[in-house]
Amino acid sequence: MTDRPLLDACDPAGIERYLAAGGWLAAGERVLEVARAGEGNMNLTLRVATTARSVIVKQGRPWVERHPAIPAPGERTLVEARWYELAGEVPSLAERMPTVLGVDRQARVLLLGDLGDAPDCLHLYGGGRLAVGQLDALVDWLLDLHGEFSGDARAATLDNRAMRELNHEHIFEIPLSASGGPDLDEITPGLREVAAGMRRDRALLCAVRDLGRVYLGDGSTLLHGDYYPGSWLQAPRPWVIDPEFGFYGPPEFDLGVMLAHLGLAGQPPELAERALARYRSGAAIDPGLVRAFAGIEVIRRLLGVAQLPIAPDLDAKRRLLETGRAGVLGLR
Ligand SMILES: Nc1ncnc2c1ncn2[C@@H]1O[C@H](COP(=O)(O)OP(=O)(O)OP(=O)(O)O)[C@@H](O)[C@H]1O
Ligand SMILES: [Mg+2]
Repeated sequence: MTDRPLLDACDPAGIERYLAAGGWLAAGERVLEVARAGEGNMNLTLRVATTARSVIVKQGRPWVERHPAIPAPGERTLVEARWYELAGEVPSLAERMPTVLGVDRQARVLLLGDLGDAPDCLHLYGGGRLAVGQLDALVDWLLDLHGEFSGDARAATLDNRAMRELNHEHIFEIPLSASGGPDLDEITPGLREVAAGMRRDRALLCAVRDLGRVYLGDGSTLLHGDYYPGSWLQAPRPWVIDPEFGFYGPPEFDLGVMLAHLGLAGQPPELAERALARYRSGAAIDPGLVRAFAGIEVIRRLLGVAQLPIAPDLDAKRRLLETGRAGVLGLR
């Protein structure tokens, strides 16, 4: 075995040898079945059924799993491990996240407890509704995270610079630049022209640049970094997974991303209002900055590379983009 074995979903015997070599299988425990767990893009995420249990094996390779030609930051798995280690100290957070059963720093592999085959919340974009109880639980989880890790002296231990730079490019640069993004008319006819108007809007471009600097700046509150329906697994109190974009920064970023996706998923506006009010009753936050981060998240999901499974309705997208623009510009 090399220092950096590449796991292969089609080779259960190889996975068994790998797990056994790491001391991750109990005496007599055998691998029965290996399958892809869910719809990840970035990493190889496998569900491994053994004679004793089911576990998740997540390997971050030097590339984006679904697009092997695109390189991906090598430290992301170690960041995720560190993030789980920090957040795992807080029982109210830990009880809604997977347990980390093992970390192979060499091979960039996490062994995680299997939360079951509850799907993620991407169904919300296709007409699903987030229940009020789930919304409240998601806001409360965020409040606990931000509250427990605000002003944290360990901020330097989770810088996640490479992933942040990657995300910065995809959130704050590509969507409003003339190149690098997808063919928007292929996604929704007419969207290219709407984008062209926004890409000429100098006030918007300046505000986005400033916001991008805030995102890249160092903060002292631990964020999830990707708090959207793909990181929530369905349950009355949803599970939270995939903190590989986590970093210490402004709490407004996590809440803004969450609110953006409630809008993108066509949830009733009262849900977003409720989330903001609930958060604000638990902690102080700059609502203008929340709206600005929400605005750019909407813009990037409609004009950038990381598209969502939403209907190709030009008028709806135009309205969302206008709200996003107003949020970034601080307009009501
Ligand atoms: N601990 C877990 N228990 C149950 N299912 C899980 C667990 N971890 C991951 N999954 C499933 O695997 C999918 C992919 O996991 P994850 O989002 O961590 O991978 P990823 O490659 O980082 O994805 P993305 O490209 O969306 O960032 C999840 O949507 C979920 O369905
Ligand atoms: Mg991920």
